[in-house]
Formats: sequence, structure tokens, C-alpha cells
Amino acid sequence: MKFKSLLRAIGIALTITSTSSMAEVSVSLDTDNTGAVINKNIYGQFMEHLGRGIYEGVWVGPESDIPNTNGYRDDVLQALKDLQVPLLRWPGGCFADEYHWEDGIGPNAERKRTVNTTWGGVIDDNSFGTHEFMNLAEMLGADAYVNGNLGTGSPKEMAQWVEYMTSDSESSLANLRRENGRDKPWRLHFFAIGNETWGCGGSMDADYYVDLYKHYATFIKTPANNKPTLIASGGTDFRTDYTEALMSMESYWSYNKGAISHHYYTLPTSDWSKKGSALNFPESEWASTMSRTLKIEDILKTNIEIMDKYDPDEEIGFYLDEWGTWYDVTEGDPGFLYQQNSLRDAVVAALNLNIYHKYAKRVQMTIIAQMVNVLQAMILTDKEKMLLTPTYHVFRMHIPFQDATYVPIELDGNETYGQGEHQVPKINASAARGKDGKLWITLVNVDPNNDEVINLGSAYKRITGEILTAETMDAHNTFKDPNAVRPTSFEVSPAENGELVITLPPKAIIVAQLTE
Ligand code: AHR
Repeated sequence: MKFKSLLRAIGIALTITSTSSMAEVSVSLDTDNTGAVINKNIYGQFMEHLGRGIYEGVWVGPESDIPNTNGYRDDVLQALKDLQVPLLRWPGGCFADEYHWEDGIGPNAERKRTVNTTWGGVIDDNSFGTHEFMNLAEMLGADAYVNGNLGTGSPKEMAQWVEYMTSDSESSLANLRRENGRDKPWRLHFFAIGNETWGCGGSMDADYYVDLYKHYATFIKTPANNKPTLIASGGTDFRTDYTEALMSMESYWSYNKGAISHHYYTLPTSDWSKKGSALNFPESEWASTMSRTLKIEDILKTNIEIMDKYDPDEEIGFYLDEWGTWYDVTEGDPGFLYQQNSLRDAVVAALNLNIYHKYAKRVQMTIIAQMVNVLQAMILTDKEKMLLTPTYHVFRMHIPFQDATYVPIELDGNETYGQGEHQVPKINASAARGKDGKLWITLVNVDPNNDEVINLGSAYKRITGEILTAETMDAHNTFKDPNAVRPTSFEVSPAENGELVITLPPKAIIVAQLTE
């Protein structure tokens, strides 16, 4: 179906009223009993020295023919500004544990050329370093999250890096920063002590890491007005040993607050040697991707239960600082993790975000992996060309949820969609009261084949918002057709009986305002 006719189809679908004979899902919002604030950092982004994630993807250098501002490519910069990125994590990932910050400061010509042994064995000229990252975060108005090197660094190297970024004194390191062009310290919001220490960060046992964490963290010293939240590297998937071990440092937590990180990736097959294709996949892999995505809810619940045992006042955060889809690479060097991004990814993103909203009290940060050209990216580039992915559109549509207050939501009559063992609820939803006082709702129809009629009751005068859908499960944007998948606006008023009823097309995401 051509884009215009698709728009027509959506327009028609959304004006179907309650006279429809289809079974309905009734949605009710409990606006009197609001929940936690949905921390804006649930919408965090990640940039690692990996493939074209930074070089070409964000940073082209001031001499590049690609239009840029001080080395940051203009098209990507504008897209990130439009996305209102709240939080940026750098330099890894696995790369963080082989990154030595002094390689990436000072005049460009004098910076070291190092081998990226984690990702593709390529030479990194270190032209993107601490200044380039911290300035970018500042330009975007995003919180800065720097991941320290525990694996191949030392407590001294880590402590000095933090001093370099945050000290306002006349110390040699603060003065070196000044010589390198930055007078005032940057605001450092988050600092992590290692990454995936059970694997690429050092293959450690949880108990061993716990001691290292305390050791390194002791020497992170900053001015009182620039204290980063320290992040302990936690577990992955269904592992809980890290959460258990870290939470049991009770006397440490009693005088140091902080957070534990955790990672979870969605693989269609759950087999790391053959993860599944980003495009041209069978419907069975649509269903398995949806059900594996929803497993994050159990992961959150299990870890939160452990944390509640030790920290009933919920002072320690649980940060899911890597999540997203991970497929077999679409093209290029296998070590660069470049994959296309389709409507399936958009639905996956929306499902994840809805779950994070629900657990927002403890889950105060989540970071999709990664921002540009890597895994479930917001943006893809090909030299001077750039496109916004369906996942980008989902994040942009959800901006009103940043720092909004969670509103409990109930769905009645929600049927199941699935294939074989992979069965999931057809409709997935979330609601929140925005900072602007407006009431926002997201609705996702996971079923790739059938419409679903949604009855929102008679409390609302109107629903206005955006919808993202397409004809095929793997519909995606290309450099030739960068707008093949993009959101369109809609507005629906109540039927004569006062009920607000909309028909959600198959495989669609809505983010909309309910007028009370
Ligand atoms: O995001 C890609 C990689 O996945 C990160 O470097 C690592 O932390 C995780 O295993």
C-alpha cells in the first residue's frame, strides 16, 4: 500500500465508533491514584566507540565535508535536539574497560592512536574524547553519564578522570582541562565503576566485584555541588547474583547512595550464534520478539524484590542501562553491530517503555542500545546521508512522558496474540499526567494482523495524538525512502452515546492526549 493510502486507511480506522460489532478492550485510568514520577532518564541514550556509533554517526570532525558544528554533524545534532535526549552514556559498554581517558584529551594531532580490541580491531584516533562528549551532553541539555574503566584501569586513573571533569580548583588536572579549552568544570551526573564485570569487564564473580566497587568508589571525590550518582555494574538477563551481592553491602549503602545497573537484550531466537534477522523475518519471530521483550517485566520484578528486602525506602536505583533488540548484523563488519530498524523495533520500544513507566519508582534510568548506527538505533547514517528510524519516532512521540507522573491503567477484555509458546496480551498500554498537567496515554496493538477496538469510556472530550504503523512487519526507512515509516496525526471525538472509541490498526503505536 502506498503511503497516502495507508494514511487514508488509518484515518478511516480511527473514526470507527462504538457501533462496531468487534469485541472491545475497555481501558480505564485511575487518575485519582497517581504513582511515581517517570524519570526523564528512562529515555536515556548510549554512544559507544563501536562501529560507526560515534565516528561518522555523530562526530565527523571540524574539517569534514559533511556539514558540522565544531565537528558534530548538523543533521544528527538537530535530530537529537528534537528528541530532547535527557541522558547520554559514554564511552561504553565493553569499550569502557579498555578506555584510557588521557588518550583522548589535548591537541588532536597529539592524541594516541589505539586499537579498539573489543569492536572490530579498528584504529581509534581518539578525536572524540572527554571534551567532545561532555560538550555534546551540555549542548543537548542531557545529563552526562560517564562509564569508568575498572577492567584495565586503576583507582588512581579513575579518580583523576573524575577530578579532571569536575574540579574547580587550581589543581594541575583542573588547569590541564583549562589549557585544553574548558575553563569551568562540566556537570557530571552519573559515573559507573566498570561495565558487565561478569563478562567483558573482567569475568569476575559478584562477590569479588563488590569489594572492587567499594575500593574504587572510595576514591571518587568531587566538589559537593558536582557529585555524580555512582553506578555499580550489575547483572544481566535473569541473573540476580549481582543484585543480591551488591545490595548486601548494607553498611556501605547506609552512608553512600547510588544505583545498580542491569542489562537485557531482546533476541528473536534467544540464540546468540543465530539471533534472527532484522528484516524479512517470519511471523513466528515477530511473536517471539514480543514475548521475549515482555520478559523484562519479570526481570525487573525479581530484582526489585531483592532490593526491597534490603532497601525498603527505595533509595538505591535499579538502572537498566542497556536494552533493545540485537539481531544478526544487516551489513558491514560483524564487529560493528549495524542493524536495520523496522516497525517491529518500534513496537518493541513502546512495550519496553510502558513497562519501565510501571516500575518508575525503582527504575529511574533505562538506556536503549545504542543511539546511532549500532543495534536498536535512533538514527542511521551512510556518509553524508541520515535517516530517522521507527524507534526514533517512538522516542520522540513519548516526550510528554519524560518526568510525567504515572497513572494506573486497567484493560478489560484484552485477548492474547501469539504463535506457539509465544503468547502475549494483544494490547499494551500506559498513562501519565504530564508536567504540563495534560493526561497522556500510549496504546500498542501487538497483533500484526488484526485491528482492535478500544473503548476509553465517557470521561473524555477528545483524543488527539500521533500513530505509527505500516503495512508490513518489517517496514523500515531507507536512505532512498527515509519517510516510509513515520507517525501521522489523528483526532477522534466521542460517539453520540458519549463513549470515546478508537480502532487501533494492526502493529500500531499511539501516543495521545486525552482531553478531560
Ligand atoms: O551494546 C553493545 C554491548 O553490549 C556493550 O558494549 C556491552 O556492555 C553489552 O554486552
